[in-house]
Amino acid sequence: MFTVGKINIEKGIFLAPMDDISDVSFRLVCKELGADVVYTEFANAEGLIRQSEKTHKKLDIIDEERPVGIQIYGSTISSMVGAAKIAEEQQPDLIDINAGCWIKNICNNGAGAGLLKDPAYLQKLVKNVVDAVELPVTVKTRIGWDAFTLHILEVAKRLEDVGVKALTVHCRTRSQGHSGDPDWSWIPRIKEVVKIPVVLNGGIMTAEDVQRAFKETNADAVMIARGAIGNPWIFEEAKDILNNGKKLHPLSHGKKIRTCLRHLELAIKVKGEERAVIEHRKFYTGYLKGMYNAHVVRNSLMTVYDYHSVEEILLHFLQTLEKVNYAAAV
Ligand SMILES: Cc1cc2nc3c(=O)[nH]c(=O)nc-3n(C[C@H](O)[C@H](O)[C@H](O)COP(=O)(O)O)c2cc1C
Repeated sequence: MFTVGKINIEKGIFLAPMDDISDVSFRLVCKELGADVVYTEFANAEGLIRQSEKTHKKLDIIDEERPVGIQIYGSTISSMVGAAKIAEEQQPDLIDINAGCWIKNICNNGAGAGLLKDPAYLQKLVKNVVDAVELPVTVKTRIGWDAFTLHILEVAKRLEDVGVKALTVHCRTRSQGHSGDPDWSWIPRIKEVVKIPVVLNGGIMTAEDVQRAFKETNADAVMIARGAIGNPWIFEEAKDILNNGKKLHPLSHGKKIRTCLRHLELAIKVKGEERAVIEHRKFYTGYLKGMYNAHVVRNSLMTVYDYHSVEEILLHFLQTLEKVNYAAAV
């Protein structure tokens, strides 16, 4: 059970914080398709306290996406305390501290997974943040820095001791980055040493993986990152499997294309048409995956800058797909 502040969810399926992906438009699409809790892209603490407009934008949340967590990252206690207070002004449902990012610049500065190198300092930093805000504070981390420093059990206990309300564990080390097999066997071991909810992250790419993750680890919730990109139906499908033993919502080309357009419409509301259309290009590979001649359509989509052109290309493509399917069926 994931009980944090006002959130109370059994077998929750969460959308992970993902820089340049998990903006409000993607979070809403995932929410509409069943994500129980969504997280913002991480916001840099220094940027927030320096009042960078671009960084502050990352804190924008809307009521329809609740429950939502705002994630912040940084290495100094003063910047993280300041950033948490700024994040709190947006009134998210929780504030999440990133102690798992593997990017070199960030780790070398002592932020993200860099915090794992010194569990006592991580604990102190987190305690200061917990004490500075009213909202529940959670932490997202990894099982260790590398295979020789798998300190997650110590880290989990230290964080629980200073009042962290839940822990999300990407079951890889920092050295593994995003590749290699995640080791989910850490989740039950962590649950033995702490009472706070433990969220499993890493390697959930299909709805069936969600079921397997709960079965194998008894995690309090699971968090999906890459498995949701261009594939936000993973939440709905996983819920079908958990609740009914099978997928109930058929996934058609039409549904995929309409979701892709809905995602773009929402993005336009947030960032304006041209920017949204350009940034949406990174999602076409996922949304059109497996469709006949998708690469040709993707190439056309790279050349347009307004919603109507995208819609025209995609709806025309859908008609063609339906004709191909019809021809194959007769
Ligand atoms: C494009 C991208 C951006 C990410 N940005 C963040 C981030 O802002 N904060 C964070 O905690 N993790 C971030 N991550 C890591 C994911 O949240 C997640 O921990 C990792 O991808 C493993 O989960 P997965 O196997 O389901 O992809 C990012 C991952 C990707 C692929």
